[in-house]
Amino acid sequence: MAIHEKRHRFKQDEIIFKEGDDATCAYLIETGRVLVYLNEEATEVPLRILGEGEVFGEMALIDNNKRSATCKALTDVETIIVTREQLLDRIHESDPIVQLLMRVLLERLRSQNERIRSRASEVPFNLDPLAFEKEEAVKRIGLESRIAIALDNDEFIPFYQPIYDLATGEIRGCEALIRWISSDNNVIPPSVFMDVIEESTLILRAGRVMIEKCTADLPKMQTRFGHVEDFFVSVNVSGRQFLDPRLVSHLDECRIKANVPARQIKLELTERVMTEGPQALATLQECRKQGYMLAIDDFGTGFSSLQYLAQMPLTDLKIDRSFISKMCEDKKSLSIIRSLIHLADLLGLKLIAEGIENAEQLVMLNGLKVQMGQGFLFSKAVPLNEFMKLPLKFNT
Ligand code: CMP
Ligand code: CA
Ligand code: CA
Repeated sequence: MAIHEKRHRFKQDEIIFKEGDDATCAYLIETGRVLVYLNEEATEVPLRILGEGEVFGEMALIDNNKRSATCKALTDVETIIVTREQLLDRIHESDPIVQLLMRVLLERLRSQNERIRSRASEVPFNLDPLAFEKEEAVKRIGLESRIAIALDNDEFIPFYQPIYDLATGEIRGCEALIRWISSDNNVIPPSVFMDVIEESTLILRAGRVMIEKCTADLPKMQTRFGHVEDFFVSVNVSGRQFLDPRLVSHLDECRIKANVPARQIKLELTERVMTEGPQALATLQECRKQGYMLAIDDFGTGFSSLQYLAQMPLTDLKIDRSFISKMCEDKKSLSIIRSLIHLADLLGLKLIAEGIENAEQLVMLNGLKVQMGQGFLFSKAVPLNEFMKLPLKFNT
């Protein structure tokens, strides 16, 4: 059945029809864009933007009802008119079940529109299924470029969280944690930017900055905590950094400049590094050969594979905070910790517990002979100047 080619043009911003109007035809968009929206009091509740090749105004014809929404030309729009007869003839020719289905679907769409209308005052709503993703993508690109600028402006610095010997209470080292100090002096938490950094090549730049700064700070810390043998700074290194062939030479360069031995620098890595392939493993081995300490971080949270663990040239194992936080109430967490301790023992690794928040956990970890730990019970991560004022021993 040929469609009689009747066209209609609408000027930009022209209202094509209004919600509640009687319907005479539907439209097929040839060029331009049409906004479909509901009028709710003084506001417009957008439902959808339609473009080339899409049809609108069909609903009122099919269910013989009033226009379910208002349609407005967002640009100059060219349409082909589809008459009521053209549409209904086709529908009547179709299978009765298909006709029924169509009515059901239309009813659902109308009631969904009503729900959207009633929620419009509560939440900003966007029905374009891609809109959310588009918005996220745009936000992300924006954040990425702000991070790149912030790196140029030297706005990323390490904060340091002390790590203590749990038995003697003496400080042993610290973990360097990245912080973004924005130009207006706000501390932006890693939760805002870390994913974006880690999923882009920005991680290479940010990683280098962290290595440079914490190696440069290490001699000052060593002076402050002079009696501590091999006071260490532990820096998080992501899988991607281990694929960078310059990683080891950069580490060497930084520590030679700061005049600190490799054994005072600990690299924290996750099991994910093993999914980066043999190159990453080769870099790990090179790091270890040069004397850097290697701690496996967040162990037990990912897709831990003991096979990986055996292959990696590790020196330390960090017990993830999730096990520590539950160890006092949850027998399973405690069992996992026990088996990690056993594993570390077999593999000759030192243990560091992270996320220690209360004395009960400390007592238990001490009982389990976990050597080192960090957490809010002792101190959060602080800037260097505050770190230098920390006591030599924790007091609880
Ligand atoms: P009709 O009810 O004739 O007039 C308004 C038109 O807007 C409707 O036909 C559909 O073409 C379109 N429409 C209504 N609700 C929606 C929606 N939720 N999503 C997309 N288009 C819609
Ligand atoms: Ca870490
Ligand atoms: Ca961790």
